[in-house]
Amino acid sequence: VEPGFVHVDGVLHCDAIPAPVIAEAAGTPTYVYSAGLIRQQYRRLDAAFARVPHRIHYSVKANSNLAVLRLLQAEGAGVDIVSGGELYRAHEAGFTGGDVVFSGVGKRARELHEALAAGVLFVNVESEGELLLLDQVARERGVIAPVALRVNPEVAVDNPHEYIRTGEKGHKFGIPFDDVPRVARETRDLPNLKLVGLDMHIGSQISSWEPYDAALARLVALLVRVRADGAQDIRYLDVGGGLAVTYDEEAPADVSRFAAGVIEATRGLDVTLVLEPGRFLVAESGILLTEVLFRKRSGGKEYVITDAGMNDLLRPSHYEAFHRIDAVKPTGERVVADVVGPVCESGDFLALDRDTDDAPPGALLAVRTTGAYGFSMASNYNSRPRPAEVLVDGDRFAIVTERERYEDLVRQERASLDWRVA
Ligand code: LLP
Repeated sequence: VEPGFVHVDGVLHCDAIPAPVIAEAAGTPTYVYSAGLIRQQYRRLDAAFARVPHRIHYSVKANSNLAVLRLLQAEGAGVDIVSGGELYRAHEAGFTGGDVVFSGVGKRARELHEALAAGVLFVNVESEGELLLLDQVARERGVIAPVALRVNPEVAVDNPHEYIRTGEKGHKFGIPFDDVPRVARETRDLPNLKLVGLDMHIGSQISSWEPYDAALARLVALLVRVRADGAQDIRYLDVGGGLAVTYDEEAPADVSRFAAGVIEATRGLDVTLVLEPGRFLVAESGILLTEVLFRKRSGGKEYVITDAGMNDLLRPSHYEAFHRIDAVKPTGERVVADVVGPVCESGDFLALDRDTDDAPPGALLAVRTTGAYGFSMASNYNSRPRPAEVLVDGDRFAIVTERERYEDLVRQERASLDWRVA
């Protein structure tokens, strides 16, 4: 079978597995991923860049499940991490230090120590403070730390929500464009650092090319300038992530257009391109399976109350993000309803005023395109155990994360207190 989510004889399947079989085995709510779809996306992107030296470093934050990481590792991916915790996961999944680039605006000394001990490919440095700290950590370890400077290209980003823009003037991310030549010189002057790359990431779900092309042109101009200033060790150009996927009816990212643009803009630079896609690789591979608990009407409004809430899938409430919702066994009847979770917040919804299947209590729904930033943003709010995760590969499936238990919720807590005095 083709990997993916399709209705066969009126029942939604993931690859060859009927969704109700998964719900029976793992309960609900449960995230379900198609391994085949993840591989397909990886291979599409890899093939689009085949004619130039490139490395795909999967952005772990999108979906940090170990089985997903291992699958991408087997495909030949590296990782883009943003914390010591993600480095730990990467190791657990079989990545080695050289497979890792380390991004993030607020790295701690301990995390930099861990990264250098692991021998990461490079650290994407986002401020002068971080540069000095990294130099000190490298000195303590007796190593030379490979550095890429994350540039804020300061372009207007065109995507659906302010919270997922990172490359505009004044954003907390990256080094302000005009400061980069000076910070590059400073990097070269620090004895325990080596400047090996420049980096950018302007945001997610990039829906038109102009801002991306403009940002890349500015990054390339800086590369030329910094090299002319004497930086001879630059070998990597990290062009970020942000490739868009289809949530509703948006046009999907045109991977060949993306690759052609990047290859053209970087022609002759003698660099290895580094890509940091997250969502593109995993979003469409995932659904959140949830059961309808109740139906109700209030103030003329129709409600579908599900057992998945904002703690399981934050995107609708946090970004007003749209996720398609499909009935696992469509009734054929439609209704316009708010699909809401059990969490005690008015902002807890999966969909508002949605024309959706008239699903009765007990019915299963699939919240689509939730393979990225679904489980990885889940919380225990309302003391709700986080959902299970299932990986499907053709005609077999495995529970790759057990549903949390109540004991897990209080594991780190102490009711009998071990008081200390100053
Ligand atoms: N590289 C860096 C430095 C990043 O900060 C991110 C995402 C990525 C790569 C991957 O971006 P992607 O290809 O997945 O768009 N939670 C939000 C998205 C926040 C992304 C943060 N950084 C969401 O649910 O839409």
